[in-house]
Amino acid sequence: MTDSSPVITPADVPAHPLADGTTIPQLGFGVWQVPDDQAQTATAEAFRVGYRHIDTAAIYGNEMGVGHAVRESGIDRSEIYVTTKLWNSDQGFDRTLKAFDENMARLDIGSIDLYLIHWAAPPLDHYVETWKAFVRLHEDGRVGSIGVSNFHQPHLERIIDATGVTPVINQVEMHPYLQLNDLRAFHDEHDIATEAWSPLGSGHGLLDDPVLVGIAERLGVSSAQVTLAWHLAIGNVVIPKSVTPARIAENIASVQVTLTADDMAAITALDNGTRYGSNPDTASFA
Ligand SMILES: NC(=O)c1ccc[n+]([C@@H]2O[C@H](COP(=O)([O-])OP(=O)(O)OC[C@H]3O[C@@H](n4cnc5c(N)ncnc54)[C@H](OP(=O)(O)O)[C@@H]3O)[C@@H](O)[C@H]2O)c1
Repeated sequence: MTDSSPVITPADVPAHPLADGTTIPQLGFGVWQVPDDQAQTATAEAFRVGYRHIDTAAIYGNEMGVGHAVRESGIDRSEIYVTTKLWNSDQGFDRTLKAFDENMARLDIGSIDLYLIHWAAPPLDHYVETWKAFVRLHEDGRVGSIGVSNFHQPHLERIIDATGVTPVINQVEMHPYLQLNDLRAFHDEHDIATEAWSPLGSGHGLLDDPVLVGIAERLGVSSAQVTLAWHLAIGNVVIPKSVTPARIAENIASVQVTLTADDMAAITALDNGTRYGSNPDTASFA
């Protein structure tokens, strides 16, 4: 824990509109690779410095820790936005409905604001039936919003054609080296919000890029803050992860960083297609 007072309030984080009429805080807190027994502490620290949006998943094994932090935060549940995800082995109509109940039980916070299909997993070929179950959950009023993660354009087109229901968000790997302009254009055409996972490059050296470091030095901020400010400026929802209190605070403070048009152009020019995670066209983890 840091002793410094919070400098950002939740109101400083823009509310990003979603196509179903709800909003999502544009900057949230990711907890992938945070063990369950540390998730409560890390999430509590995130709440302390102003985050109100947490991104977890069944496969992260830390929904219980996140749920504890939400319940013990003293913050009204309506002011906190929680995303969780359905794991690939639970895809399929009936399995999805059962898995959703298990997500709910582990979180134990009364409701889930956003439920995502974690991966399209095309080799399994269950994602259309899975999306039908998501639509059922939403129609029955059991979940706030429904979306997907790691879907490419053909996967999105297939679920939209099959159900007439468009996911409100697609959470995909995205950062200055992987800008996915074609996918983002498709999202814009269909009113699908783009949410960036590994927005900081997940510790693989992106933050040492000389362009990002140069802008950061000129502005007197960090290259992580420059990177997050770029995401926010192009309209992405972002969910940086850290277990380091100083970085947790640093990352949310990126909402106060303003980049020039030249900075934006320089970062846009960094796109080189580098993918640190798996490719949604082929990944199934089965
Ligand atoms: N849908 C999906 O398939 C999927 C896949 C991957 C991730 N995600 C979501 O996206 C979230 C973020 O992605 P991610 O965890 O892969 O990576 P990330 O947020 O891009 O980067 C996290 C890494 O950067 C370090 N870091 C954080 N803030 C920093 C700062 N200000 N300066 C320097 N280093 C910093 C962290 O270290 P410390 O923690 O040691 O501080 C950690 O090693 C995940 O937590 C998860 O919620 C979703």
